[in-house]
Amino acid sequence: MNRFEPNLRIPGPTSLPSPVRDAGARQMINHRGPEYAALQGRVLARLRAFFRTSNDVVVLTAAGTGGLEAAIVNHLSPGDRVLAVSVGTFGERFARIATTYGADVTRLTVTPGAAAEPGLLREALTGAEAFRAILLTHNETSTGLTNPVAELAAVARELAPDALLLVDAISGLGAVPFETDAWGLDVVVTGSQKSWMVPPGLTMLAVSGRAWKAQETATIPRFYFDLAAHRASAEKGQTPWTPAVGIMIQLDVALELMEREGAAAIFERHHAVAEATRAGLLALDFELFADPRFFSDTVTAARVPEGLDWKPFSAALRERGLVVAGGQGALTGRIFRIGHLGSVTLADILAAIGVLEEVSLAFGRPVEAGTAVAAAQRAALAVLGTTGPVPAGAR
Ligand SMILES: Cc1ncc(COP(=O)(O)O)c(C=O)c1O
Repeated sequence: MNRFEPNLRIPGPTSLPSPVRDAGARQMINHRGPEYAALQGRVLARLRAFFRTSNDVVVLTAAGTGGLEAAIVNHLSPGDRVLAVSVGTFGERFARIATTYGADVTRLTVTPGAAAEPGLLREALTGAEAFRAILLTHNETSTGLTNPVAELAAVARELAPDALLLVDAISGLGAVPFETDAWGLDVVVTGSQKSWMVPPGLTMLAVSGRAWKAQETATIPRFYFDLAAHRASAEKGQTPWTPAVGIMIQLDVALELMEREGAAAIFERHHAVAEATRAGLLALDFELFADPRFFSDTVTAARVPEGLDWKPFSAALRERGLVVAGGQGALTGRIFRIGHLGSVTLADILAAIGVLEEVSLAFGRPVEAGTAVAAAQRAALAVLGTTGPVPAGAR
């Protein structure tokens, strides 16, 4: 880690393992030829395993927001009643997309830092007129919080059995346990630049049988994001429009690395580095932002303490090779966020905490040198045990 090769601790884009970077330099291939068809086949099969689904998975060339837009435009008609469960910036974005396309959106909003607890959803659905869809955020990147999607989906299934469950899992899927089929989710959206360790540019969606059926009667216009066109092309191992071939090649390599590490080890590594991050920040006298019962294992948000000017503080971090994210919207200047997803290792996090410690001391904060790194390491080892090998992550 230095100024030229920073420790990129933002919640996406995440840093690329070397084999994924190298794959980005490969020559193009014919996207209508057998080599691409084989590549797409491998990618979709591996994605299905990580989504934990036997449903179709579709890869679109777009930012994650494009995936959310595809989830809306393919399954709804103008005037459809939609319940948007929003716990932050990204939940609000999902709701706004639905509103933009003419859905009749009811919001279930909670204070930033709090979770969408199942009881709240139960209240919102009890006695309510039927909803066509319910929008959920799995991991709210703006506040560092993971919603209890399994429990929320169970409430939705019980009280709104006909509603489609559309889930933004962009910043969580691939890093923490997630069950598309077992939780009964209809559309699940993720993005390449998060846990998947590839550049931005692809969004991947799992689409249930119920969702495909709903598309037949949904009347919001769509063309580029028409999922039925993607499904028809996928039968020939293609996409309807030219795919981002280079990123697909990188995703193929990244998924192979992930398969080799194994889902259970990936989840354990993310939990360990998240615990280390939280312990390190607490030892540095920062207050964590989210409800502790719902702490995210992919991004941690902490309050900017009273009297600390965030701009020069983050500039000093950057000067030492650590890049973290600030707050978004109303939380700008009030919180900062550390991303710990994708190829992240315990060493990356210990280095990050070390820089935070150094800069905290330089800014006269009440910190004792060495204590935060020690606290972070202890927290990680409490997850990993001290006898097993410390997971290296993908490099
Ligand atoms: C939870 C969540 N939803 C949606 C998005 C939007 O993704 P993109 O910036 O790729 O459009 C992000 C990106 O950070 C996210 O974290």
